[in-house]
Parts: sequence; C-alpha cells; structure tokens
Amino acid sequence: MSIKTATLNGVATVEIARPEKKNAITQAMYQQMADAIDAAAADNAVRAVLITGQPGIFTSGNDIEDFMQRPPGNLESPAFAFMKALMGCDKPVIAAVTGAAIGIGTTLLLHCDFVYVSDEARLAMPFVSLGLVPEFASSLIVPQLMGNARAAEKILLGDPFTGADAVECGIANAVLPAGEVVNHARRIAERFNALPPGAVRETKKLLRRGRAQAAAETIGVEGKVFAARLQSPEAKEAFSAFFQKRRPDFSKF
Ligand code: COA
Repeated sequence: MSIKTATLNGVATVEIARPEKKNAITQAMYQQMADAIDAAAADNAVRAVLITGQPGIFTSGNDIEDFMQRPPGNLESPAFAFMKALMGCDKPVIAAVTGAAIGIGTTLLLHCDFVYVSDEARLAMPFVSLGLVPEFASSLIVPQLMGNARAAEKILLGDPFTGADAVECGIANAVLPAGEVVNHARRIAERFNALPPGAVRETKKLLRRGRAQAAAETIGVEGKVFAARLQSPEAKEAFSAFFQKRRPDFSKF
C-alpha cells in the first residue's frame, strides 16, 4: 500500500509511503489521497488533516513513468481529484515535510493551511527543466507570496530551496529538526480538537475566498498548457533522460 491512512485523536493522517521510488505519486495514489481527504472532511470525528511522507523524503512528485504512460489529459484525472479534495477541504490541513518535496510535493504545500519542514528537506518546482509548466495555481500563488523576482528563480530556473527559504518566502511556518517535524505538525493539528469546528470551517473559507476564483481560473489555463506540454518532444527528452540517468539535451529544440 503506497498511501497509509489513519485517524487518531481527531487527526486524519495521509502518509505517502513508497520509499523505494522516493514517494513518487502514481495516479492510483492520487486517487487514494483524494478519497482519504474527502472521507476526513465528511467524518465528524476528524478536526484536522495531516499530510506527511517518509523520513528523508516527502515526495519526489508525480511518478514520471505515469506521466509517460498515462499522461493526465483533463480535469477528471486523479491528480485533479486530489488537488480538488485538498483545495476544497474545509478542515485545516497541516503538512509535515519530512524530506525532499519536488514538483507537486511543493505545489500541494501552497494549498495547505500549515506547513512544517524538516531541516533536511529541499523543495523544488522543476517544471521547466522537465519541459512542463507550473500547475494547480502555483503560477499565481508563488509570485503573490514572494514577488516576481524570487518566483522566477524558483519556477523559471527551478532552483531548489531550503525549509528556511520556504519560511522566509511565506510557503512554510517553521523548520524543525528532522526527527521532530511530524510530531510538531501533529501537535498543531490536535489543537483543533479544542476549537469550535464551525468557526474554524467558516474562517478557513474566508481566508481562502479572496483568491479562490483566480486560483480556479488559473488552474484551468495551466491544466490545458500542462497537458499539451506532457506530449511535447521537450518533455519526452526530459523524462527519457531521467530514467536513463543522463542530463537531458535540449540543444536540438
Ligand atoms: N517518478 C518515478 N520514479 C522516480 C521518481 C519520480 N518522480 N523519483 C524517483 N524515482 C525512482 C528512480 O527512478 C529510482 O528508481 P530505480 O531504483 O528503479 O532506479 C528510485 O526512485 C530512486 O531514485 P534516485 O533518483 O535513484 O534517488 P536519489 O536519492 O539519487 O534522488 C531525487 C532522489 C528525489 C532527488 C530524485 O529521484 C529526483 O530528482 N526525482 C525526480 C524528481 C522530479 O523531477 N519530480 C518532478 C515530477 S513533476
């Protein structure tokens, strides 16, 4: 099982658990994550959702083989179902970034309410170097959070960045020692057991309201470009190079 779920003391945990592939997320895993978040949202016993990974790796992003074999082509794909569940979840979502968070691993953090990062973690949005474009409103939210100059480094160049940078840029709340990040995130999640759930729900909606429409519109635009880019010769070269463990050659494009 690549996604583990458990509910304990008011917190529904969604744990990405495919360490042999650095927690790369397949379509089946996206669907499991979507179902787990939807179930948590519907369960009165759940006050918050915790998303976490494995020691040293949060997720290496979308499974690149899946991208090649089963490219998501529309808004009905499991990746969209997952992001829809995450963005629509009216309970607080807390991320414990246990290690590298690449591609969707960083993008999904933009849609969590609290983000705690291990001091060993590196984040990255290497879409351009994969021949792709940003996804799930990151092209809107990242410049809003940190300004165009720093967004260009992280998205156009795809430069990796540390947890401390993520805090400084407004993506994360705090950096914790690797051995403490999950417990810290869990303690934050458990604080919602003592708060009135109706007020939490309505407040979360209000906090998101300002950008909800622009985010939805941006996701539609990004999604079309992303689907087209997945079929591009540039992306095919990048994916093949990854599996052949060589540097991609974009000189012919
Ligand atoms: N999709 C599919 N398989 C992946 C993967 C991904 N996103 N990330 C890692 N894997 C696989 C590797 O192919 C390798 O499989 P193998 O053992 O069968 O050869 C295994 O996981 C271990 O990965 P490896 O690259 O050897 O580990 P590492 O510790 O040297 O590097 C990462 C770890 C995460 C830095 C590196 O795997 C990486 O850069 N992954 C791709 C990240 C990416 O571009 N994601 C964006 C997708 S949009």
